[in-house]
Amino acid sequence: MQKEDLDFFKKWFLDYVDQFSSPEVFIQENVKLKIEHTARVCENILLLAKAENVEEKDCRLAETIALFHDLGRFEQFTKYRTFKDSESEDHALLGVKILENTGILSILSQKEKDIILKAVEYHNRMEIPECTETTTEFLFYLKLIRDADKLDILKLVSEDCEKEEELRNPVLEFNIPDTPGCSENIVEDILNNRMSKLADAKNRNDIKLLRLSWIFDISFPAAFSLLRERGYLETILYSMPETEEMQMVREHIESYLNAVETRARNKAVKTDVI
Ligand SMILES: [Fe+2]
Repeated sequence: MQKEDLDFFKKWFLDYVDQFSSPEVFIQENVKLKIEHTARVCENILLLAKAENVEEKDCRLAETIALFHDLGRFEQFTKYRTFKDSESEDHALLGVKILENTGILSILSQKEKDIILKAVEYHNRMEIPECTETTTEFLFYLKLIRDADKLDILKLVSEDCEKEEELRNPVLEFNIPDTPGCSENIVEDILNNRMSKLADAKNRNDIKLLRLSWIFDISFPAAFSLLRERGYLETILYSMPETEEMQMVREHIESYLNAVETRARNKAVKTDVI
């Protein structure tokens, strides 16, 4: 992909989202939230791609995926006033539909187009497709966008944890009540290294735990390093109630991260030796 192609997409994106700017504060704030989120996901994906020594032209492809991954969010929020896919529609599929209907990707090769459309389509799925000869390249980009996206959602959640009640964005927590305790299923998921389902989240603690469970879907060592450096997980973990269950969750997450880091270090040492 050429630099001019990416510049064209960036300009198109700004024009596209401009149509959703609204005099209504509720809409405007959440449209702005997603524009800013997109910009940070673009930054994140570049950091991850560069850490993987991805070539410049492929970094541009990765950045395009980040730029368009939440394209469906703007129409979704304006139409349904929620980011909850189960109460509106799948924002990833909506994004793919918009990309196809506008024909914006027609300046690219068929291969680049396919990678972008599939990465957008699968970026929010619970499970990713199996690795086969034909999916290897697409899966690399899919993992990049999933990591880059999760990094920014964890940032937003951790920032919200530090805010006073009235300054928090209820939309980020899907308007779920702030009641005591947490769902057994979600704790069980974390202790078994699984991502949790939104359907199991009954209160604000569950939403925080669900976001924490996303670490089990993180793929790249650079994403784990960024999580550590930026301290998102600690902030979320230490905003949870001091219960035995939470202590278990904290210890489990800590040992999972340590194991991942040790594995990454050993791999790096081996590569150095070779
Ligand atoms: Fe996103």
